[in-house]
Amino acid sequence: MFVYIRDHFEFVRAIHDFKSLFGDGPYCEVQDGEQVKGLNPYLKMSGKLRRLLQTFFVAFLAVYTTLLAYQTLSRAGPFNNVISESSKLSNVDYRYLSEDQVGSVVTVSERKLFTTNMVTSATATIRPPTTTLDDVFISVKTTKYYHKSRLNLILKTWFQLAKKQTWFFTDTDDPEFQKRTDGHMINTNCSSSHNRKALCCKMSVEFDTFINSDKKWFCHFDDDNYVNVPRLVRFLGDYNSREDWYLGKPSIQAPLEIISRDKTTQKVKFWFATGGAGFCLSRALALKMVPIASGGKFIGTGEKIRLPDDVTMGYIIEHLLKKPLTVVDQFHSHLEPMKFIRKELLHDQISFSYSRNKDEWNVVKVEGLDVKHDPYRFLSLHCHLFPHYSFCPR
Ligand SMILES: *[C@@H]1O[C@H](CO)[C@@H](O)[C@H](O)[C@H]1NC(C)=O
Repeated sequence: MFVYIRDHFEFVRAIHDFKSLFGDGPYCEVQDGEQVKGLNPYLKMSGKLRRLLQTFFVAFLAVYTTLLAYQTLSRAGPFNNVISESSKLSNVDYRYLSEDQVGSVVTVSERKLFTTNMVTSATATIRPPTTTLDDVFISVKTTKYYHKSRLNLILKTWFQLAKKQTWFFTDTDDPEFQKRTDGHMINTNCSSSHNRKALCCKMSVEFDTFINSDKKWFCHFDDDNYVNVPRLVRFLGDYNSREDWYLGKPSIQAPLEIISRDKTTQKVKFWFATGGAGFCLSRALALKMVPIASGGKFIGTGEKIRLPDDVTMGYIIEHLLKKPLTVVDQFHSHLEPMKFIRKELLHDQISFSYSRNKDEWNVVKVEGLDVKHDPYRFLSLHCHLFPHYSFCPR
């Protein structure tokens, strides 16, 4: 039935035929013998048969109209499908698609949408891969001597915002802190002295622990850092962990120059991110470092160039792998004067630190708690950023 009433032309033709058959239109006025003959023999029919056919045609028209209405409604079907497909599309997890795949998915959908609805196509834009706190591995280097003082301050403040993502790398078993961190203290078995080998030993364990995790970002901090956790996560959201990223802040004005003692004595120049300010590595970059840095090889490299952990990191990434450091001003180590970070910009910073040289305190300038109770200003800083905490002044 559908085949015969596919379009309006056929409908119009049917009316013409009807008119020419039964009477009213100009077509029945045609008097030319040949045309009348060519048109139809029904013209010569009796009045009774004519009425019968008229009744039949009215019935036919009614059926046709119904079918036309049905066809119009059924055309809305595939249109609805496209909308639901495109809304499904926006839920596709782009993190697991290569850039080419993302391109092709969107092209297909756009082509479909183009023929139906332009408004819907506007919603099918690519969303960048989202980064959540769970994508980040936060490692904090510490030593048994600082558990009581420095770790206490961290546990009271920013650790509360990333309890599941933060791990402490130390050099002893500490049942009390093991309990307070819900098992997040890792005894590296490294020496507790602050020498080069001990530092590289801890960094080596930090790196291996990250590699064995399923996280996308490795962020290292020291135990005298305050980490603005939501800011760190938002910051990493601007980068793709499947690309090579070495994000941090140098503490010197020019690249470090060392004399390499390889086969030929030569000058080697590279930047490195200060460990005391914190730095982050994307998983893609960390995986490229595995042959040189995993399973204790990091210690060997550190021994070879005879430099501390963070410098060794820069040597491996910038010199050996030729991946540049991306300088991020929002990381801050105790080597910078903390008081120069303006109050309006505190929310925007990723890390802070403190230090004390004799009587001079290098601490963040922020109002809040009494200096006697909060000499390092981390409690006050935490209250400035997250005022709802119980120890914050109201
Ligand atoms: C440290 O030594 C203990 C005891 O030998 C061992 O169980 C643990 O796995 C070691 N830790 C690391 C990080 O290798």
